[in-house]
Amino acid sequence: MRSHDSVGWWRSAVIYQIYPRSFADGNGDGIGDLAGVRARLKYLAELGVDALWFNPWYASPQADAGYDVADYRAIDPVFGTLAEAEELIVEAHALGLRIIVDVVPNHSSDQHVWFRQALAQGPGSAARDLFWFRPGRGAHGELPPNDWQSIFGGPAWTRTAGPDGTPGEWYLHLFAAEQPDLNWENPRVRAEFEDVLRFWFDRGADGVRIDSAALLTKDRALADFDPADPPTADSPGQHPYSDRDDVHEIYRTWRAIADSYPDPRALIGEVWLPDAQRFANYLRPDELHTAFNFAFLGCAWQAGALRAVIDETLAVHAPVGAPATWVLSNHDVPRHVTRYGRADTSFNLEYRQLGAPTDLALGTRRARAAILLALALPGSAYVYQGEELGLEEVEDLPDAVRQDPMFFRTAGANLGRDGCRVPIPWSGRTQPFGFSAEAAGDSGAEPWLPQPEAWKTLTVETQTGDPGSMLELYRAALAFRRASSALGDGGIEWLPAPDGVLALGRGSSFACVVNVSGEPVALPAEGTVVLCSGELESGLLPADTAAWVLR
Ligand code: GLC
Repeated sequence: MRSHDSVGWWRSAVIYQIYPRSFADGNGDGIGDLAGVRARLKYLAELGVDALWFNPWYASPQADAGYDVADYRAIDPVFGTLAEAEELIVEAHALGLRIIVDVVPNHSSDQHVWFRQALAQGPGSAARDLFWFRPGRGAHGELPPNDWQSIFGGPAWTRTAGPDGTPGEWYLHLFAAEQPDLNWENPRVRAEFEDVLRFWFDRGADGVRIDSAALLTKDRALADFDPADPPTADSPGQHPYSDRDDVHEIYRTWRAIADSYPDPRALIGEVWLPDAQRFANYLRPDELHTAFNFAFLGCAWQAGALRAVIDETLAVHAPVGAPATWVLSNHDVPRHVTRYGRADTSFNLEYRQLGAPTDLALGTRRARAAILLALALPGSAYVYQGEELGLEEVEDLPDAVRQDPMFFRTAGANLGRDGCRVPIPWSGRTQPFGFSAEAAGDSGAEPWLPQPEAWKTLTVETQTGDPGSMLELYRAALAFRRASSALGDGGIEWLPAPDGVLALGRGSSFACVVNVSGEPVALPAEGTVVLCSGELESGLLPADTAAWVLR
């Protein structure tokens, strides 16, 4: 692997997120798969990223796009086979790309053998204790055991029924009903996931991304929410099912497993917590290596807010010795080209603003500046597939094609996440834009979600070689970052800059200047511009533009 990779490669890595269903379709059925990824590995290596994180590729009924896992050791036939995944890992390694697999420990699928046994074996059985089954409240058990709400909308409990339709116990699901929560109090659950980790590490996975990492342990009493402390997106502190102190012992055990490999494996947490201090607890030296920085992702495009979030991020990571991460988009949030074009550029999970007006040209301009900022900051960075093409959120999908349970569980009030999951445009002038290989004797199926016609100007093919394109900006920035010893892990210094301008120095010779002021400004750092997200105008850095400068 690459030279500075051996000491905690995750401290500096740029990690590319692959949403397998939408990346590339190798068998022509309209759904992305591992064959499609394997055919495009060279594209990823040439893009200049260091690692690939795969959203779940496991056997799954796909009630929540694979986050409902029926078998943690098998690949879903829609995507391919375990043998193909193993070959993919070998091929990626040969190209210098690390592999991160998604582990989903909070819940399984309702089709997982454990859950089917739990239903079959009935109340009080050992099989039921692997999940959270409880009798209902009310005279006939007709009310859910407590007041918890599903993160996807509606109650977090579903009632079971016997073979003859007689209603029985309820089971807990913090997400969709097809995703029963596992009971982490039960040692079998813990042992099972330790084994799943080893299963993928033994197959060469270089790390895991841990889904919903703060949710695993629950209040054993399953108490109602305290009305004096109702859960809100901005309310920190502990909830009966989130960020409980006893979750940390799980990650200490996992860390010991990851560290037991001669080439230690990375533990990366999905930790959505508004309290930065509690977030940092997950990154203590014997727990996770890194976690996604959603505060940066949700930050408004404003100089003061950006600077504050960067400072806070660095301040909470420093005492635990963990590298920060910089994330602009993922498969759960509206794409940032769209967010940055809105009047309000901030984002949080409760405030998705789906369908709010957006200026895509402005959003694109800011997205170009934002990636230069993200890649200049210390630590590791993420690229969500398609952001390197400047894709926008597809907000006008017909309801009939939507698949996200969030859309259905809120009766359409929340449009959900399908709009950031539309298949990638690779080439050509018409749908499927090279997404699907043409199956023999078949002109190719429709992609599983329709692609906007306008994406003909955003294909990899069109952008390649166009120096003004988003793709070439990413390629140039990634190549520079990899070659520069100043970038990646380390510290920063803020340089003097006018209001509305962020100027940060890395090492003695590198500076990144981001103009968020709304007016053109003189470059505050003297030196040679090596990369710029837009054209300088008479030597000035235009609004919503970033430059990398060698001082
Ligand atoms: C995480 C995933 C999201 C999924 C949820 C339930 O937040 O990123 O896509 O729906 O967990 O597994």
